Amino acid sequence: MKLPRNFYRPLAVGAPEPFRDMPVRAERMIHFVPPHIEKVRAKIPDIVKQVDIVLGNLEDAIPADAKEAARAGFIEMAEANDFGETGLWTRINALNSPWVLDDIVEIVGAIGDKLDVIMLPKVEGAWDIHYLDQLLAQLEARHSLTKPILIHAILETAEGVNNVEAIAAASPRMHGMSLGPADLAASRAMKTTRVGGGHPGYSVLPDPVEGSARRGVQQDLWHYTIARMVDACAANGLKAFYGPFGDFSDPDACESQFRNAFLMGCAGAWTLHPSQIDIAKRVFSPDPEEVKLAARILEAMPDGTGAVMIDGKMQDDATWKQAKVMVDLAKLVAR
Ligand code: GLV
Ligand code: MG
Repeated sequence: MKLPRNFYRPLAVGAPEPFRDMPVRAERMIHFVPPHIEKVRAKIPDIVKQVDIVLGNLEDAIPADAKEAARAGFIEMAEANDFGETGLWTRINALNSPWVLDDIVEIVGAIGDKLDVIMLPKVEGAWDIHYLDQLLAQLEARHSLTKPILIHAILETAEGVNNVEAIAAASPRMHGMSLGPADLAASRAMKTTRVGGGHPGYSVLPDPVEGSARRGVQQDLWHYTIARMVDACAANGLKAFYGPFGDFSDPDACESQFRNAFLMGCAGAWTLHPSQIDIAKRVFSPDPEEVKLAARILEAMPDGTGAVMIDGKMQDDATWKQAKVMVDLAKLVAR
């Protein structure tokens, strides 16, 4: 049986309703910080000015003996700073970990009114979203929060990819989804030790041509999963994101991976290092030349129907919609 779209609205008495009225923001990068490190917390006011979203990471990359310190540090940084238009997110520990219940209960209790989104790692099916959805509903009611806290799932297990459509449709609390290429590679037994990006071994050779070298062309290892994620997200009104790019010494490869994701429909990517912030800003903001062309298409077809020629190329109702995507994004980024 297909459940109605709003079946999983929070059920707790007093839970907030206005999911549909959440502010729409440019979300070109989700910038990760390790909140247990005091030096990092001191830089938050500076970071907030540079990024669309700042995320306090509590999960992988935080050592087991620093989990409590990371949680306390995140609460401290949330209390100490004004985030203005910048989104405040946290990545909690996985639902089968010993830390996650305290992550959720303590953070929502202390700074739930400032928290925009909880990123949930290793989501395998809709049941993971339902659990967090109901727990958040109870905590929102207990603390009289008036703004719903949204959920962002990381797609990073083979089972999660299998259930991607159900995850996207699991709750009106869903904000979006990110590809987690490192955990996904392990889950699938892919033979790589990289965090995202390409691999020199994943290439195809062109046909041999006499006298010319036969060099392989690298393929995008993540194309299939990004495509599935983007379709599941778009069909449910969510945003899709590329996740981490771990080789900080290769900004060109990072930019190229981000650009593939952008062209395929992603709204943004994770930035794990300050040097990746400008890359994400550049890639996930539309090219001004393309925006100019898109604006000409909208002007040439004021009611969005028919067919016109612009610079020798046919435009019609479908390209009008493509142009609107670009113009709307340009407006969002300019805000
Ligand atoms: C991110 O969490 C990843 O596993 O790539
Ligand atoms: Mg992961």
